[in-house]
Amino acid sequence: MQKDLNNLVQSALVDISVTDSTAQLYELRVSILGKSGSITNLLKGLREFSGEQRANLGKVVNDAKVMLENAFDTKQTQLKLKEINQSLQAEKLDLSIERPLKQVGASHPVTLMSNRIVQFFVKLGFTVYHSPEIDTEYYNFEALNVVADHPARDMQDTFFIDDTHLLRSHTSNGQVRAMQSVKPPFSILSPGKVYRADQPDATHSPQFHQIEGLVIDKNLSMCDLKFVLENFAKHIFGQTTSIRFRPSYFPFTEPSVEVDAQCKCNDGCKVCKGTGWIEILGAGMVNKKVLENCGISSKVYTGFAFGIGVERITDIVNGIDDMRILFENDIRFLSQFVNCV
Ligand code: PHE
Repeated sequence: MQKDLNNLVQSALVDISVTDSTAQLYELRVSILGKSGSITNLLKGLREFSGEQRANLGKVVNDAKVMLENAFDTKQTQLKLKEINQSLQAEKLDLSIERPLKQVGASHPVTLMSNRIVQFFVKLGFTVYHSPEIDTEYYNFEALNVVADHPARDMQDTFFIDDTHLLRSHTSNGQVRAMQSVKPPFSILSPGKVYRADQPDATHSPQFHQIEGLVIDKNLSMCDLKFVLENFAKHIFGQTTSIRFRPSYFPFTEPSVEVDAQCKCNDGCKVCKGTGWIEILGAGMVNKKVLENCGISSKVYTGFAFGIGVERITDIVNGIDDMRILFENDIRFLSQFVNCV
């Protein structure tokens, strides 16, 4: 038995030393020290002996067992360490490697301009008040004092959905809805898409964006309107810009004006068509009839309103001479605005 044990220990030590993975070592350990492993079998064989001989042999086998367990443990630690180092080498992550740049989306120039305009008016105390893009003739025309036979109400000019519903032709429907639901005094801004049956060309599009402004309070005058719009023009076109009012006509404002901003050029250019002035929006004092139509007493309250064409301002600021490019989704054009906020 002693000889068997010696042989077993010798070959086990050799096997342990040549094993080079923890998985193999585990299998070897089971085959020697496991339940039916060779050392365990030797211990079982002690039953054939008795007395002092059994006790002596037992001690020898147990010593050999402890020695082999230590040998396994030591090897196990070595192999674990080796394997950790190997995987650290193999899985090394090089964070300095350059990755190809992904194309990221960005806000459209019209959205950028719309946000810029809204932010300006919000700082002045205006609140954003959204109104629907599909509305009734009542909100888009009737309440705004646009008479039934007004050319704008013609099928040729406005996209009708059925007999009474249409795609709003301006954001002024927001004026009516605000006046009917918000208690004066208030200042609201109604931004969004508007639709007109227009053939697309350099200055027209069947769909474009407007921002409507409406202020209702006591004792408002054209001076207040001019103050607000002049500051708006300075914010967009620069502090030295001034504005001028030209008499105009809108059924919902009285008096009505067309507002021009001073062009940056001193002696006339393509943008201002040599006049030194650029038309930027329509505005006026809210017509008394409209105040009354919307349930606001014209004896107590006054109001002013304006409608800004966002594409127009975008074109002027960026020197764009054909607005169709804003709707063509040409990445070469749009990517020029990627870093703008
Ligand atoms: N709704 C007018 C338009 O679309 C603009 C406007 C708004 C004019 C408010 C006066 C007051 O042309």
